[in-house]
Amino acid sequence: MSSRLIFNIRQLMGTRAVTSPLRGADLAGLPFIDNSWVHIEGDHIAAYGPMRALPPDLALLADGPEGIDATGCFVLPTWCDSHTHLVFAGSREPEFVDKLKGLSYAEINARGGGILNSARRLADTPEDRLFVTAWQRLEELSRLGTGAIEIKSGYGLTVEGELKMLRVIKKLKERSPLSIKATFLGAHTYPEAYRQDHPGYIDLIIREMLPVIAAEGLADYIDVFCEEGFFSPAETETIVRAGLQVGLKPKIHANQLHLSGGVETGVRLGALSVDHLETMDEGTIALLAASPTIGTLLPTAAFFLRMPFQPARALIDAGCAIALASDLNPGSSPSGNMNLVVAMACIGMRMLPEEAINAATLNGAYAMSLGESLGSITVGKMANLIVTKPIPSLAYLPYAFGSNLIGRVMIKGEFVN
Ligand code: NIG
Ligand code: FE
Repeated sequence: MSSRLIFNIRQLMGTRAVTSPLRGADLAGLPFIDNSWVHIEGDHIAAYGPMRALPPDLALLADGPEGIDATGCFVLPTWCDSHTHLVFAGSREPEFVDKLKGLSYAEINARGGGILNSARRLADTPEDRLFVTAWQRLEELSRLGTGAIEIKSGYGLTVEGELKMLRVIKKLKERSPLSIKATFLGAHTYPEAYRQDHPGYIDLIIREMLPVIAAEGLADYIDVFCEEGFFSPAETETIVRAGLQVGLKPKIHANQLHLSGGVETGVRLGALSVDHLETMDEGTIALLAASPTIGTLLPTAAFFLRMPFQPARALIDAGCAIALASDLNPGSSPSGNMNLVVAMACIGMRMLPEEAINAATLNGAYAMSLGESLGSITVGKMANLIVTKPIPSLAYLPYAFGSNLIGRVMIKGEFVN
């Protein structure tokens, strides 16, 4: 078993053991140890502490090849990105330019662009090709500090296409050192052939897709885009209940464009998370705060679509457990860079650096049911660590947005760069 020591760490961030997602004022607390070390054995964190209390046997490691001198650097848990659409067949920058010229996201969808555009391209792309491009994206993100990621289907919209996407995600799970969760999002939009036949498509999801997904163990969660012009709350409930029957917990796209009823539906059905939340009112905020459901905010999607940012301050003040995620997808967030997500959460939503980091690590881990093994510096947890470049303070990370301040990234005890 390998034994490594990162030492002379300026601040080791997130040193704690908690058993549930952080909410309210607790989100602003990020315990740390100045001038410190962390010892990694195999794939997990074995011990950590201040340099003045470094045991002599571990001090020996510092002089050998297993010692990493982190003078001036911060060490924090890797990002846990709990909402992405990382598997897709091509970029959509022509639509981006259309939007610059004045078309809205909804208008682009209505004329067959958007998700349907991605679905057409996915249908024409072989599984191997999809895997290669997804793998490249995953590698890029891991070098930017992402150590765990949720990936959705939803650009298939046919039995064959959805299964193809989920099989690609399964292969990523098998081959990548990152912790990966798969979410079935067959209910991303109605495909062309079912525009006038919603019950027909819902039937296809329930009778043709879900049984294979369950039999082959292709998904951990079920998602529905609950939104005006997409899936109604009643349709969402039907699909989610069918998913629950085969053991898939819901994570719901809710309240992106309207007060869609998605938060109410998600909370009532025990969703692990309700995601997006650009459009919230007092009632939906209070409902979410009183529930165990995590609210996942996707600031880069709001930014890219030029929509108001999610009301993070109101959500935190009400006591909601909130996570931050990238929403990486070709239509509304072409970046999966979690450093940018954290910066935008601070700049656009007035989250404090500590709040944003907690929401992008520990709470993100909980939004993938990985809170017991990831998201903080805890003895026994997975050794998924970011070593920053030398920086003057923690707040410098979101402050100097756009600079790559990630020095090295360790996933399951091995450096990926
Ligand atoms: O999370 N909101 C729905 N789905 C994606 C966008 C998908 C797309 O445009 O391709 C999202 O923003
Ligand atoms: Fe999304």
